[in-house]
Amino acid sequence: MENFNYYTPTKVVFGKGTEEQTGELVRQQGCRKVLVHYGSGSVKRSGLLDRIYGALDQAGIDYISLGGVVPNPRLSLVYEGIRLCKEEGVDFILAVGGGSVIDSAKAIGYGVADEGDVWDFYEKKRQPQACLPIGVVLTIAAAGSEMSDSSVITKEEGWLKRGCNSDLCRVRFAVMNPELTMTLPKYQTASGCTDIMMHTMERYFNQAENMELTDGISEHLIRTVMKNAKILMDEPDNYNARAEVMWAGSLSHNGLTGCGTDGGDWASHQLEHELGGMFDVAHGAGLAAVWGSWARYVADARPERFAQFAVNVMGVERAEDDMDTALRGIEAMEEFYRSIDMPVNLRELGVEPTEEQFRELAEKCSHYRKRTIGCVKKLDVDDIYQIYKNARG
Ligand code: NZQ
Ligand code: ZN
Repeated sequence: MENFNYYTPTKVVFGKGTEEQTGELVRQQGCRKVLVHYGSGSVKRSGLLDRIYGALDQAGIDYISLGGVVPNPRLSLVYEGIRLCKEEGVDFILAVGGGSVIDSAKAIGYGVADEGDVWDFYEKKRQPQACLPIGVVLTIAAAGSEMSDSSVITKEEGWLKRGCNSDLCRVRFAVMNPELTMTLPKYQTASGCTDIMMHTMERYFNQAENMELTDGISEHLIRTVMKNAKILMDEPDNYNARAEVMWAGSLSHNGLTGCGTDGGDWASHQLEHELGGMFDVAHGAGLAAVWGSWARYVADARPERFAQFAVNVMGVERAEDDMDTALRGIEAMEEFYRSIDMPVNLRELGVEPTEEQFRELAEKCSHYRKRTIGCVKKLDVDDIYQIYKNARG
């Protein structure tokens, strides 16, 4: 087992009706003025936003609001939020929504606490030194941003999607009522489940050894999400299935399933982020579309690990040869994606890049040949190009 830090400072308030506690939770933070940040309308349509305003009013909290966050959240709105918060003396941000809203809130939080350009942090030119405190009312189980150290923002100029990681942005509290996710379109539910599974799969496929407990937690987490994702395709109002998936979403990305590993591979995420930036696809669906291509490209570097995954997660019978077992496991995962209407290639994702765009994806993903991605196999620009091409469908 490798050495590790495990830091999860977020207070989780989980279950039915918990959003009613939001006012009190914010009040406990001792802030003067709050920015309520939200997305493109779902929280208005569901009436959640009005209920949150009511809870804040009742707790005597002074607040302003900024909506309009879109999936693959944009830098321009982050700048607007920073300006607004500075003008209004905001000292706490309440994100009401999913990963995109939370990530936008985190970026605003970094920007308000800094004098320079917040994009520097996403380009890794500088490391953030501070962030405004953030609270969350979660409406979709997917990105895990409610407990992660990460924020992912898209810069419209050049359509670059980049992440920034730091413990400073870890959320103070996360209100998680699984009932709030019942209004999700089926595609977003499936896409969210795919992302949740992938946060653990990224950590699971690594170069480390001897992580019996972490492997067990990971394998069970993925199986639990698969089982409940299938239930939700037919029963979107099934509370227990919503609850299992929602809790898995947080545990899958708060570091738990990476304890004792070397950090994991993460190439599929890097591959997807360029797709999200250039083609504005749903993050989880984009992951499903590239995962099989990535897995086939790298499996021969760790066939025993892929075989363990095939047997313990996908229920594949072990063949004599690890590579055979590994390939059957990859097929079984693709079969699962199909069963919840997720794409298993780019065409099914609705993206048909030109040759020039394939090259552009690979160049951007390799940060113009300045980095490799992944650890199962280190992938350079040519490997990345090939994985995108193999994912074409
Ligand atoms: O904007 P609204 O109208 O609210 O609609 C959203 C959006 O269209 C809708 N939605 C959310 N809750 C709903 C709902 N619709 C009906 N009922 C509800 N209860 O769902 C759509 C997707 O929302 P979004 O916030 O984009 O989803 P998700 O949580 O999947 O976040 C995706 C973003 O997070 C990033 C992704 O790259 C992507 O930009 N990620 C962030 C991570 C992190 N910070 O740790 C890790 C992830 O790997 C990921 O990269
Ligand atoms: Zn993800």
